[in-house]
Amino acid sequence: MTTVFSGIQPTGTVHLGNLLGAINNWSKISQENNNNFFCIVDLHSITTLPKKNELQKSTLSTFKALLGSGINLNSSTIYIQSQLKEHAYLSWILSSFCQVGELQRMTQFKEKAVSFGTHSGLLTYPILMASDILLHKANEVPVGDDQTQHLELTRNIAERFNQTYGDFFPLPIKTTGSTATRVMSLRHPGNKMSKSSEDLNGTIYIDDSKDMILKKFKSSVTDSENEIKYDIRNKPGVSNLIEIFSAINNQPIDKTEKMFVNVRYGEFKETVGESVATYIIPIFEKISSISDQEVKKIANENLALAKKSAETTISELKNLIGLI
Ligand code: AMP
Ligand code: TRP
Repeated sequence: MTTVFSGIQPTGTVHLGNLLGAINNWSKISQENNNNFFCIVDLHSITTLPKKNELQKSTLSTFKALLGSGINLNSSTIYIQSQLKEHAYLSWILSSFCQVGELQRMTQFKEKAVSFGTHSGLLTYPILMASDILLHKANEVPVGDDQTQHLELTRNIAERFNQTYGDFFPLPIKTTGSTATRVMSLRHPGNKMSKSSEDLNGTIYIDDSKDMILKKFKSSVTDSENEIKYDIRNKPGVSNLIEIFSAINNQPIDKTEKMFVNVRYGEFKETVGESVATYIIPIFEKISSISDQEVKKIANENLALAKKSAETTISELKNLIGLI
């Protein structure tokens, strides 16, 4: 059986990029017969120095977003990273299989260092991520395109460990959906949509009202032509809207292009906004019906399952490397 692992940081509010690039795929995968682990990676969030209340609030709301998006708990374990100490334990062991130079080359490190400084938590972030994945000996990791580099590093770390100690970790592969693997900001289509964007109108949050969603799409940046064509280089704004529409409606890009031949930008933006609202609002309604108590109960039950898997790996690993 395939083991799947993925994680999301509880930093701020879940947005459309998280949903289309990751969570939507997690929900689909969870309908199949896999062994899935989906983790709220709060230890990773520490690297951006969140305030205590915000971290607590976002951890619960991110957990609810996963439940609300329809992840099937029969095949999936959803849990909170900091509640399973083995993540940090494995991270220490794997740090001896990773070069400082590799970490310094990570794009995410370079980008985040601008805002948070070059502290070693940001630098060693990818080793903790590799530990998340390898702790459960995952085969597949469904993530958005921004995580490609981290996944390659995870494979390198696993490979080096295996060269030293024999075949222990599977080499995990990155899996992504076919569209919207990198959703861009509606206001700055050269930048990816993110929780902490400077221009909030460029990000669609999971708790935005319908009016707010339509307003954000209305003010989305396109270009001075009037042709709805997929061309990332020359028409990044329009291409982003095409990707979003295609992903939500589960259809290829060229079908979306054909649907909007000779349609004006204004009308196109409104249609995309409407489909996003129709997609997001039911998820948010589900989320709103889940209490904090319920989340804590599910988190506890699921933690026991994750712990069992983690303890098995760590006990095998200790044996393998000589930790008594
Ligand atoms: P994060 O919010 O950075 O923890 O990301 C959680 C998941 O969402 C990861 O799999 C990311 O690759 C994915 N993700 C984040 N932002 C985007 C985006 N703008 N487009 C597509 N996927 C994204
Ligand atoms: N680094 C990922 C992000 O920023 C979050 C993450 C942490 C993750 N550990 C993981 C994703 C393990 C997949 C697998 O989005």
